Amino acid sequence: MFTLLKRFSASVRMNDREPVVRFENVGMRYGQGPEILRDIRFDLEPGSFHFLTGLSGAGKSTLLKLIYLAHRPSRGLIRLFGRDVATMSKDELPNLRRRIGVVFQNFRLLDHLSAIDNVALPLRIAGTRKSKIREQVVELLHWVGLEHQLNARPPVLSGGEQQRVAVARAVINRPSLLIADEPTGSIDDRIAMRIMHLFEELNKVGTTVVIATHNEPLVERFGHPRLHLADGALEVISEVAQRRLA
Ligand SMILES: Nc1ncnc2c1ncn2[C@@H]1O[C@H](COP(=O)(O)OP(=O)(O)O)[C@@H](O)[C@H]1O
Ligand SMILES: [Mg+2]
Repeated sequence: MFTLLKRFSASVRMNDREPVVRFENVGMRYGQGPEILRDIRFDLEPGSFHFLTGLSGAGKSTLLKLIYLAHRPSRGLIRLFGRDVATMSKDELPNLRRRIGVVFQNFRLLDHLSAIDNVALPLRIAGTRKSKIREQVVELLHWVGLEHQLNARPPVLSGGEQQRVAVARAVINRPSLLIADEPTGSIDDRIAMRIMHLFEELNKVGTTVVIATHNEPLVERFGHPRLHLADGALEVISEVAQRRLA
């Protein structure tokens, strides 16, 4: 893990003082449906770590999709790495997306590729030398406890194993911003803790992290500030307020 982190810290860029993510008066509806998110405003400062909580259907995945540019808001302003996403040209988007690691709620692995090749994909796209890719990928897959499944394809992996491949793929490229949508939903507590520690280590070397979860014990145990969604509105609950609640 040490060499892995050394590599991480070498390349996480803390380029400016702007929030990594800024939402101002953001609203979101699907088609003509009701507004799922209303007047959302928050900042994610560089190097911060937040949980995103709320009941099922509260809009957690929708909010994360807005952050990783899978959806456009119906109204309001979203800034990513200091840039207004609405005025960004199509050519700029891939560059921005490459700085964001995403663990999708439904994993989105490529079924015809092995675990190793799924995790290697972001490195291949980024042009990392072939000789370096395997070593990094194998080390990370060991860390998430998948050393026995390196060559297995997603369809033969359990849900929890697929989830860990998805986590490894999201972090292998040392993203500036890591977004995880219920990343511990299908795994047992011991591995969940391991993955949380991986996120914490990444955060310590500069990655901004936001994790959607409804795993309350996890939220309480790690005690990071929380963005809480209810009735379309977002409340920011600081660490101190959270300790008072607990
Ligand atoms: N693509 C979509 N089209 C229409 N409605 C959607 C779509 N995705 C999500 N929703 C609705 O938006 C609401 C919030 O969903 P979601 O963001 O997935 O919540 P959560 O992740 O907190 O469970 C739900 O009522 C859901 O049915
Ligand atoms: Mg969701």
